[in-house]
Amino acid sequence: MNRSIRGALLWEPEMEPLPRPTIFEFHGVYMTNYFTENWDNIQSFEARPSDIVIATFPKAGTTWVSYILDLLYFEDVCPERIASIPIHERVPFLEISAPFHHKGKDLADQLPTTPRLIKTHLPIQFLPKSFWEHNCRIIYVGRNAKDSAVSYFHFGRMNFIQPDPLNWSTFLQDFKEDKIVFGSWYDHVNGWWEKKQTYSNIHYMFYEDLTEDTGREIDKLCSFLGLSPSAEKKERVATGAKFDNMKQDKMANYSTVEVMDHKVSPFMRKGKVGDWKNHFTVAQNEEFDEDYKKKMKNPTLKFRTEI
Ligand code: A3P
Repeated sequence: MNRSIRGALLWEPEMEPLPRPTIFEFHGVYMTNYFTENWDNIQSFEARPSDIVIATFPKAGTTWVSYILDLLYFEDVCPERIASIPIHERVPFLEISAPFHHKGKDLADQLPTTPRLIKTHLPIQFLPKSFWEHNCRIIYVGRNAKDSAVSYFHFGRMNFIQPDPLNWSTFLQDFKEDKIVFGSWYDHVNGWWEKKQTYSNIHYMFYEDLTEDTGREIDKLCSFLGLSPSAEKKERVATGAKFDNMKQDKMANYSTVEVMDHKVSPFMRKGKVGDWKNHFTVAQNEEFDEDYKKKMKNPTLKFRTEI
């Protein structure tokens, strides 16, 4: 089987598993070829002023926020879109270039909607410059490091286009050493936070806040985006985007993506704040906290590990 052809669905569940990609340093950040192969085209992506970027470190709730925004903008005008197009096509993943998938950049180019909702995991220094030139609105979602690490570990187990995380303690060590795809969680969350101080079109939000009060966070999103939906509509969006609803929705739960084995771990896994407590040993937690204190110097950026 030729797996080198990209842009087509090549992999079928009855075939042997895809070989796991190798991780390597790319402009100072660990990546795999699935996110670097289309690099020049990504960097020269032509943004439009109406584009909205959803930027996150992996596993911060990207799909959740993408789903909320998609409902806010398009549920009334195009309900069939929500019922028939997977979320990763409605909100393309800009930098992805993997064998089973159309290139994210091409999907973004071809999006028929205004605004175009575009997802990225790129650290701040890699965002294509056209987004800055057009002063595009950016929604950044952060999630506490411990739950992010746990979620990323399970994601690596079930997703063949991720390097094999091997086991929890190895993965946790890799996380601390930034040897995971998209590199340092610390640089990512801090880089976007610092940018927010000078670029007013970033709305920085947190997974934990969204869990605590989804309605309140939808209100903040709407005010950032200049939307004024009715109370009924906001309620519909909050209900539609509940974990259990999204878990059942084939267009949101990634069950149509063959390179993910949901029997190993479902994409919509737990959706909780504090699941790290079921994974970290006491010693791992103490070491992690020590390391965290050294790396998180900015006192204004605070994450909650429980709510
Ligand atoms: P867990 O693995 O902790 O369950 P991303 O979309 O950035 O890859 O993030 C995936 C994480 O967000 C997963 O976390 C997933 O369960 C969680 N998630 C997705 N939709 C959610 C929702 N509606 N409510 C709460 N968590 C959600």
